[in-house]
Amino acid sequence: MSIYEIVQRNCLEWLGKYSEKNIHLTFIDPPFNQGKDYRYFNDIQPEEEYWAWLKQVLSKVYQITVDGGAVYFMQREKNTEDVLKILRETGWIFQNLLIWKKKTSAVPSEFRFSKQYQIIATATKGEKPRVFNKLRVDLPIPPEYKYERDNGVYLTDVWDDIRELTSGYFAGDEAIRNSKGDRVHTQQSPVALLLRIILASTLPGDTVLDPFAGTGTTLVVAHQLERNSIGIEIDPEYIKVIENRLKSLRPADNVSQYYNYYRYTPDLKKIWPGGKTVMQMA
Ligand SMILES: C[S@@+](CC[C@H](N)C(=O)[O-])C[C@H]1O[C@@H](n2cnc3c(N)ncnc32)[C@H](O)[C@@H]1O
Repeated sequence: MSIYEIVQRNCLEWLGKYSEKNIHLTFIDPPFNQGKDYRYFNDIQPEEEYWAWLKQVLSKVYQITVDGGAVYFMQREKNTEDVLKILRETGWIFQNLLIWKKKTSAVPSEFRFSKQYQIIATATKGEKPRVFNKLRVDLPIPPEYKYERDNGVYLTDVWDDIRELTSGYFAGDEAIRNSKGDRVHTQQSPVALLLRIILASTLPGDTVLDPFAGTGTTLVVAHQLERNSIGIEIDPEYIKVIENRLKSLRPADNVSQYYNYYRYTPDLKKIWPGGKTVMQMA
């Protein structure tokens, strides 16, 4: 049975006090400094301050990560240069620049192509990851393909099969809503995204950290996959959301719904212990 820990705190303070070196994977989905309405974060800061702050987070996460451990750092595509720079300057070794292509319509621009993806930079502590599970998925066959596939395809660095929840009307059942039907957190990450990240870069029994836990998607997925997890979140309202979400599993959070999609992955049972069995959370 895995253990999860939910901490209400400023992640930089928490990171400064954490003295172990036992983190295998960290998912970093910070506020993007784009003027969103966070209760405990000023999302319009001078660029230099914002990146200096994130650099400290990356540096501290590096210190508590095991050799070969991984970080997945999500950001806006326009910030790619800063992301790669601070990863490099804090000691991380770059592995992939994942393109997470959004399913909703692109954001139009006057003098550029419209924007339709977010980046997730992946990096490791040291040249080689200690774990990288090559995942195969049963992607639909493109119309120009002549033959059916027998056993799916290996995932590439372009992820266009995961629906985002950040567009209200489109978010469906998975978005956590209040009694009025409004989303409680407009930046909730999809379960399918964390499922992929955790499956690829950890083994059962590993520890996953999320310093900007939000609604706790990382913990909900990690727990079902029998990974330990630590979620840090500054906003007490979201802490309540995470606690409730982990108490009883909502159907939309149940990772077993994706098992079939990954069925061609080599040794899938080893990295996904529960398989199709629905896990009880509490
Ligand atoms: C983009 S959201 C993360 C959403 C998350 N991935 C999810 O699935 O819900 C960023 C979160 O970081 C939190 N936050 C902002 N500053 C923080 C800090 N210094 N320490 C911890 N959490 C912080 C915000 O309250 C917000 O919930």
